[in-house]
Amino acid sequence: MSEKTAKLSIGDETFEFPVLSGSVGPDVIDIRSLYAKTGLFTYDPGFTSTAACDSSITYIDGDKGELLYRGYPIDQLASQSNYLEVCYLLLYGELPGKAELKDFANRVTRHTMVHEQMHYFYRGFRRDAHPMAIMTGVVGAMAAFYHDSTDIGDPVQREIASIRMIAKMPTIAAMAYKYSVGQPFVYPRNDLDYASNFLHMCFSVPAEEYKVDPVVAKAMDRIFTLHADHEQNASTSTVRLSGSSDANPFACIAAGVACLWGPAHGGANEAALNMLREIGTVDRIPEFIERAKDKSDPFRLMGFGHRVYKNYDPRAAVMQESAREVLELLGVEDNPTLQVAQELEKIALSDPYFVERKLYPNVDFYSGIILDAVGFPTSMFTAIFALSRTVGWIAQWKEMIGDPQKKIGRPRQLYNGSGARDYVPLSER
Ligand code: SDX
Repeated sequence: MSEKTAKLSIGDETFEFPVLSGSVGPDVIDIRSLYAKTGLFTYDPGFTSTAACDSSITYIDGDKGELLYRGYPIDQLASQSNYLEVCYLLLYGELPGKAELKDFANRVTRHTMVHEQMHYFYRGFRRDAHPMAIMTGVVGAMAAFYHDSTDIGDPVQREIASIRMIAKMPTIAAMAYKYSVGQPFVYPRNDLDYASNFLHMCFSVPAEEYKVDPVVAKAMDRIFTLHADHEQNASTSTVRLSGSSDANPFACIAAGVACLWGPAHGGANEAALNMLREIGTVDRIPEFIERAKDKSDPFRLMGFGHRVYKNYDPRAAVMQESAREVLELLGVEDNPTLQVAQELEKIALSDPYFVERKLYPNVDFYSGIILDAVGFPTSMFTAIFALSRTVGWIAQWKEMIGDPQKKIGRPRQLYNGSGARDYVPLSER
């Protein structure tokens, strides 16, 4: 098949660049030689039209509202798989057989404890510290405890660091929660599955037996799966850029945690529930819809809109279903927040402003309702997103480190500042 090319005319010169095709999705124009050939940069703040890498992990079709993890649709994985199996799939590219899954689960289980000295690290924080502030610090500090898995040149150390991150994030997140409520840390238990272990570390207390509700554990496991990876989103791009300097994996994941915290990204689940609570009742929805449309008002509908999805976020659909199931189980199906959320979605999706801009609920719109019903404070919502996304960050980081074309990320700019000028001594200013 003849090689596809793109022609670019600048003045009276014409330049030709290869067009590359992936397995599915848009082709790309390979502009790596653009600056050398033309002396020009491309200009794409926010990378709306830029493919920063090639990857085979996750694919999103924003127009169709499709999300594939290694080719498997997210709704099938959410209903038929489980988070640890999805971790294996994202890391190694194929669904595991029984023996492979058992071995992987066993390796993760045996890394869930954190170094005992880390308990003192938590005690340096104020009790009212936001769990995401604690996680950003503690995850970065892991490099100070696990020296034997920071050499990114050693594939064995990369593998151990990957397992350690996936295994310890729930423990770190649960410890951040326990510290914020003044309760003792709860050690992980090897007889519990991943989601049940997290719930146990968050909600059990020494004073009495804590029984994990299997329906709640299944909902948590599904939330972890829905958040596991999502192509080159802001926090994953942060992890890749950090990793391109050969920084150790703990530092790269800590950078991803910090980026995820923003309310435009992973912080939206906390902001969305706070917004639904502020709206309070269905009759106040029109007031907030008008504010979201008012350009002079910085207010946006949190949990709505997406850079890639210009259709319903497939994760939001599964999340809404789970919210109904959990609320029914907990006997709070007439939960006013869920009613406001469903009515808000209905009104927004019939309003031309949202329809024209293809703004639909995203993964963050319903997740907070489940987490709130299970008993988590809103401040823990993004920490739970971070522990879920750790496998995606790690899988993308490993893919980048293993890429023979790996280069340090170094974007350029369109400079609008002052040209060269001489220093003026203070006495003359
Ligand atoms: C996540 O990238 C990922 O994959 C992220 C994520 C993942 O799994 O990693 O999916 C997780 O971050 C989901 C998104 C969570 N964020 C929110 O819910 C915050 C609210 N949403 C917006 O801030 C916004 O929609 C973004 C940030 C998500 C997307 O912003 P874009 O793609 O840069 O779009 P934009 O800001 O240019 O908006 C386009 C138009 C603008 O209006 P006009 O200038 O055309 O008149 O849509 C409007 C915006 O004002 N708009 C909204 C809106 N989102 C966009 N108006 C009201 N409410 C909103 N939520």
